[in-house]
Amino acid sequence: MEISSTYNDKVVRQFTIATIVWGIVGMAVGAFLAAELAWPWLDFDIPYLSYGRLRPLHTNAVIFAFGGCALMATAFYVVQRTCQVRLFSDKLAAFVFWGWQLVIVAVAITLPLGITQAKEYAEPEWPIDILIAIVWVAFGVVFFGTIVKRRVKHIYVANWFYGAMIITVAVLHIVNNLAIPVSLWKSYPIYSGAVDAMVQWWYGHNAVGFFLTAGFLGMMYYYVPKQAQRPIYSYRLSVVHFWALISVYMWAGPHHLHYTALPDWAQSLGMVFSLILLAPSWGGMINGMMTLSGAWYKLRTDPILKFMIVALAFYGMATFEGPMMSIKTVNALSHYTDWTIGHVHAGALGWVAFITFGSFYCMIPRLLGLERMYSTKLIDLHFWVATIGVVVYITSMWIAGVMQGLMWRAINPDGTLTYTFIESLAQTYPFYVTRLLGGLLVLSGSLIMAYNVWKTWASASTRIAVPIPTVVAA
Ligand code: HEM
Ligand code: HEM
Repeated sequence: MEISSTYNDKVVRQFTIATIVWGIVGMAVGAFLAAELAWPWLDFDIPYLSYGRLRPLHTNAVIFAFGGCALMATAFYVVQRTCQVRLFSDKLAAFVFWGWQLVIVAVAITLPLGITQAKEYAEPEWPIDILIAIVWVAFGVVFFGTIVKRRVKHIYVANWFYGAMIITVAVLHIVNNLAIPVSLWKSYPIYSGAVDAMVQWWYGHNAVGFFLTAGFLGMMYYYVPKQAQRPIYSYRLSVVHFWALISVYMWAGPHHLHYTALPDWAQSLGMVFSLILLAPSWGGMINGMMTLSGAWYKLRTDPILKFMIVALAFYGMATFEGPMMSIKTVNALSHYTDWTIGHVHAGALGWVAFITFGSFYCMIPRLLGLERMYSTKLIDLHFWVATIGVVVYITSMWIAGVMQGLMWRAINPDGTLTYTFIESLAQTYPFYVTRLLGGLLVLSGSLIMAYNVWKTWASASTRIAVPIPTVVAA
């Protein structure tokens, strides 16, 4: 068979394996950090193991290595199927894969060495930032090149979300990382003061909005209907959802800077846009969930759909909680507390990781020419272990967070603080241990997945090349 008449699934398979490997590494570092918070001596006074150096390693590993590889695997899979053509360029796709792995390894080496810009979620220093920009632009060229040469007139909505993610992340990354290098591993941002903070959180919030949300919504719009074997509930709603989400997200960043030197009007603007953001977010959640209308019975037997629906439920929860936390008076309580950490992981674990797990279980057998995964029972086990883990993680952080906020603001009649900081820390200790337990459950679930994927892979004797359908859809 001619190569151009098949899909390029090699790069998808590579990114799929990388996702699972980096997911386990990132979550293991997360679990280690959770243990360090409960027992700080676990750093053994070794600088490379110190909390301050490993924390950004965790966030970079789970967001950009695990999340990034998952987005690239599925974007390449989805764009080929929905456009009914092979990827724009095999060579460039291979460059994207190896380039991205090089970025990940460079970040994994430099962060523990203490080389950092100290900008959250944008820690890597300037040489790595340049490499990220080059690889990301190549990703965009392969993705949009494939759209341009498509054989289907219509551009399916999943591609709109992936496309918005690619363009926006490129702009965010380049603008936020503009810096003046003073040596190979040290640079200073071109911004200063409140402007620097505003640019950083315009980036930070939209990294959440476009990397951790829009891209994964692209995944949702393809794999949920595929797995449910039903069309998306409302195509019209998906288009409204898309335009509303991308236009509102851009303005919500200042909610990360409440009660700071940022002008008050900018903080209020961020708050108002965050509240508005609830509507498009829930529009997307409802669209995904209602795709199952008339087929809810499938949830009884299909653990892959369970992953997807629970992911959407966590998405709904995080996008309700976020707007509430952006209200200035609520933020006065939640900011600096573990409530934020609970919110983050409702979104990052409950939504991002779960929709990835569900989509991967749906996609992997198709990538290998198989009917199904090696074991459906193991998928079910993964689902329950991970769900209990996430619930334990986030509830312990919610309780700890609200408790901390209340303790820090408690005041005696004479105006002095009722509690010292160390008292609030001591009260938090049991919640840190509980969170670790939740994290270990989630990590165990990922190990179960890795075993299931490995057995599935081993049972596929040859790597098939999936032919592109000859009948072109309208
Ligand atoms: C309507 C949607 C959302 C809104 C309005 C929102 C709002 C917020 C607010 C107010 C904070 C606390 C800021 C602070 O006090 O420092 C926050 C933190 C955060 N949220 Fe959300 N959130 C939303 C959805 C999500 C989702 C779906 C995810 C993950 C996939 C997420 C990830 C994060 C992260 C990572 C942080 C911590 C940022 C940091 O300080 O490092 N959010 N969000
Ligand atoms: C086994 C699973 C996981 C565990 C045990 C874990 C644990 C942790 C811990 C202990 C922290 C530091 C909290 C603090 O400083 O108080 C953290 C932060 C963070 N984690 Fe995770 N994590 C896990 C999975 C994930 C995943 C899958 C993602 C993203 C896709 C993620 C995204 C983040 C982010 C964005 C932060 C920074 C939050 C902030 O600054 O507000 N984590 N995690």
